[in-house]
Amino acid sequence: MNNPFNPSFGRIPSIFLNRGQLVDNVVQELENPNSPYKISIVYGMRGVGKTTFLTEVGRKIEDKPEWIVVNLAMGSDLMATLVDNLYMKANSNLQKAFESIRGLNFSAFGLQLSAEISKPTLSTYQGILTNMFNQLKKRGIKTLITLDEVKTSKELKSFAAYYQILNREDYEVALMMTGLLENISELQNEDVMTFLLRGKRIALSALNLSQIEISYHNVFKKSGYQVTEAILRKMALMTKGYSYAFQLLGYLVWNAAEENKLIDQNVLDKIKNEYLIELDQNAYMKIFSNLSKQDKKFVLAMAQSSNKRVTIKEIRERLDRPSNFIANYRRRLLDDQIIKATSYGEVAFTLPFFKEYVLQQYRFEQEMDY
Ligand SMILES: Nc1ncnc2c1ncn2[C@@H]1O[C@H](COP(=O)(O)OP(=O)(O)OP(=O)(O)O)[C@@H](O)[C@H]1O
Ligand SMILES: [Mg+2]
Repeated sequence: MNNPFNPSFGRIPSIFLNRGQLVDNVVQELENPNSPYKISIVYGMRGVGKTTFLTEVGRKIEDKPEWIVVNLAMGSDLMATLVDNLYMKANSNLQKAFESIRGLNFSAFGLQLSAEISKPTLSTYQGILTNMFNQLKKRGIKTLITLDEVKTSKELKSFAAYYQILNREDYEVALMMTGLLENISELQNEDVMTFLLRGKRIALSALNLSQIEISYHNVFKKSGYQVTEAILRKMALMTKGYSYAFQLLGYLVWNAAEENKLIDQNVLDKIKNEYLIELDQNAYMKIFSNLSKQDKKFVLAMAQSSNKRVTIKEIRERLDRPSNFIANYRRRLLDDQIIKATSYGEVAFTLPFFKEYVLQQYRFEQEMDY
């Protein structure tokens, strides 16, 4: 049997853990035309599962006959791609209706504008799209547009401006985006795009640990692996509920134990190094390099503690800075999900082995001679 775990970004894993009822709730909300979820933003740190969540919601919606789902990617011409994809996703009846829109030609290669409109402008696309959405409205077909990894750009601006019109005129077109918090915050700086920020925020956080344990149990037992409850528990703890870590650890353990079909402490020891290296290279390096200098100091002061849960008092003393300064950075790091509040006046790292990573980075920097 092939390894069922998939530690790669952006693809739906075959072992998907639902976050409670979150996907189903969102899918249900989208059915309601007045739902606040009509515009929604899925956010959370790198590797938490935003793309996977968006894809899963998209799939469930697509299964419904009265819906069309269009997945747009940043970096392309959003308006032209939207026209194209609406056509591709339409059934043949609807395609015929689209073909009757003046100035439009669709072919196997996608959209082609007829000769009279050789240089399509934004308003060309707006006109075409409104025609298309009218056809959809007539047939009671709703649209979900998904947009992964939003960032400010010229394309997003035009798209947002048009979407705002659609929304105002009560077309049933829902929009679901994902993004890293830092990119989402930047949308605030552009008038047209602040409109998108009014959408419902869906914050993804860690997966549930007992769910992870049960999933490991089911997958490994079913595939004939021998493993004790204690080891399964340990594995769940090793992931700290981080989605990417869940796939990665499962993947590495599966391969390491494939021959003997026995998962014990030896196997965990054997893969530990590889596990850390992959976490560092594929996630932590990017997460860490996005931190500001002060963030890094805060994080280091935390890592240097001998406790897993570190009191703010200890951090303040180590950094020798005033309380409001500390409070500010604490808030920033909480927002970025790098740390979590474990109890009043106390914080801990969210990601597995992040403390070790920070200490190692610090050592390297100390020993490097510039
Ligand atoms: N609900 C889930 N259950 C199990 N594994 C998941 C789940 N969600 C995501 N994963 C796994 O976590 C990893 C990261 O997922 P994904 O690419 O969706 O993250 P992301 O938040 O979009 O990351 P990035 O910010 O880099 O785009 C993948 O290996 C994916 O298989
Ligand atoms: Mg993603």
